[in-house]
Formats: sequence, C-alpha cells, structure tokens
Amino acid sequence: MTKGDGWVDPLKRMVEDHAAVSEHAEMMAGAEEIMHDIDIWRKLTPLKEFLRYCIVEHFEYEEKTVFETLLSRAGTPECVKLIRKLEEEHEEMTEGFKRVMEMMPREGDGGMGRMTELRLYGAARKLIDELLEHASLEDKELLPLIRSNLALFSPGA
Ligand SMILES: [Fe+2]
Ligand SMILES: [Fe+2]
Repeated sequence: MTKGDGWVDPLKRMVEDHAAVSEHAEMMAGAEEIMHDIDIWRKLTPLKEFLRYCIVEHFEYEEKTVFETLLSRAGTPECVKLIRKLEEEHEEMTEGFKRVMEMMPREGDGGMGRMTELRLYGAARKLIDELLEHASLEDKELLPLIRSNLALFSPGA
C-alpha cells in the first residue's frame, strides 16, 4: 500500500481519535438536559454516530492494524499483555455499546419517560468514561510502542 492509497499514519489517527473522545466527554458532562427535550432524535444522532465511530470503526482499526502488526512483529510479553487487556476492554465496551443502542428511542416511539432518559444518559456517560480511561491507557502505553515500531506500519513494510 502506498501513501496515496489511503495509508494513514497510525500515530496521527490514534491521537486525533482519542482527542475526539475527550471532546465528547466534555460535551456529555453537561448534556443531561439534551435527553429531556422534545428534539431528542436530532440531538441523539450525533451521539449515536460518535459512539458507533469509536466502538466500531476505531476499535476495528486498532485491532486489525495496530494490534495485529505489533503482535506479529514486536510481540514482547509486555506488549502481548497490554494488547490482551486492551482487547478485553474493547469487548466490554462493545457490549456496553449494544446496551446503549438498545435503549435509544426510535423515531416514532413517542417521547422517552424520565426513567428511560436517566438510564440512557447513565449508560452513555459510563461508556464515554470507559472510553476516556481506555484511550488514556493507550496514549500512555500503546502510543510509545507504535512510535518505537513505526517502521512496521510504513507502506510496504
Ligand atoms: Fe482501543
Ligand atoms: Fe483507541
């Protein structure tokens, strides 16, 4: 694969994606009221889209590109242990994501009851907190591993 073929610098992508998690966490911190609003569907769409991007696309990129490359070419015991832990967290958050999506109202359902709003807000908030903690572990321990093995990720490596 050449750089013109959609090759993405893994460090750049990870840093940008993780920064987006922090931004959304800040947004969610003051967002309980968005749940209690007649315009609920329009406001939930960006949240759903963001969670789907993080939990489906970002995790898939990490698992298929970052983890596989590191495991196959630089798999020291510490690296294997870290990646196994990160994979477990991905699995747990994927389950959490499914639960949040099941709680989301569908257009035409009518308004959500206050209890449903609070449960949804709590579950989404918990998921974002877990994403933040996970991204911070990756920033601290995974990014240095990518950085020191960057040549493995180069096109044609
Ligand atoms: Fe991850
Ligand atoms: Fe990540």
